[in-house]
Amino acid sequence: MDAIECIRTRRSIRGFKPQPVPKEILHEILETAVWSPSYKNSQPWEVIILSGRKKEELSDMLVGLFEKGTPTCPDIPEPTVWPEAENARIADLYRRRAEASGIRLDDPELLKKAKIANFRFYRAPHAVYLFQDASLTPWSLFDLGLFAQSLMLSAHARGIGTVPQAFATDYAQDVKRFLYIPETKRLILGMSIGYADPGSPANAFRTHRVDISEIVKWVE
Ligand SMILES: Cc1cc2nc3c(=O)[nH]c(=O)nc-3n(C[C@H](O)[C@H](O)[C@H](O)COP(=O)(O)O)c2cc1C
Repeated sequence: MDAIECIRTRRSIRGFKPQPVPKEILHEILETAVWSPSYKNSQPWEVIILSGRKKEELSDMLVGLFEKGTPTCPDIPEPTVWPEAENARIADLYRRRAEASGIRLDDPELLKKAKIANFRFYRAPHAVYLFQDASLTPWSLFDLGLFAQSLMLSAHARGIGTVPQAFATDYAQDVKRFLYIPETKRLILGMSIGYADPGSPANAFRTHRVDISEIVKWVE
């Protein structure tokens, strides 16, 4: 698969086969992702990959916190308001999703189920956490985003699915304690990783993109 096909065919995977990804392949995926660019080549990314019993224990903890109604404490707060253009795109996603699958992303009951599915990492065999030192500037957050995309593309090129998950950082303090990540770090993103289950209805939906005329101005 070439780079263009890889970028265009990657999609978020939310239904996985239980079979684990061999460690050598996870290793190769990460060794590719580290070739992402970063400000002054500072490489401000740290990664934890959880599998097996520890992954299940972490999921149980997150579901338990959620079911008890524990207030969330993400290191990067969840956005509550969006500018008009971005808000319209989110509304469009919700509408298309409801039309395609009857799933209403603004229904509180479904949101509850979606949160639990997130905390279970969509039953993927591995969960990834990306984090970095909390003293780093927004440029390093930008770099970590580049790293996350490289990781997802590097996995996709090897036939392995991923989904980035802000929700997996809802209980950042608890996750950091569980994973022995120091308080001085900020937890940026969770991610499920594994082989996509092609029969999962969650994988049938494909998101849309606005035409580039909406986002690009040509200046000559
Ligand atoms: C920073 C970030 C956070 C996200 N958080 C979640 C999440 O918590 N749960 C989830 O299921 N998807 C999450 N997503 C996936 C987006 O919903 C998805 O990328 C978007 O709808 C476009 O779909 P695609 O990835 O299939 O192209 C997140 C994506 C990004 C980039």
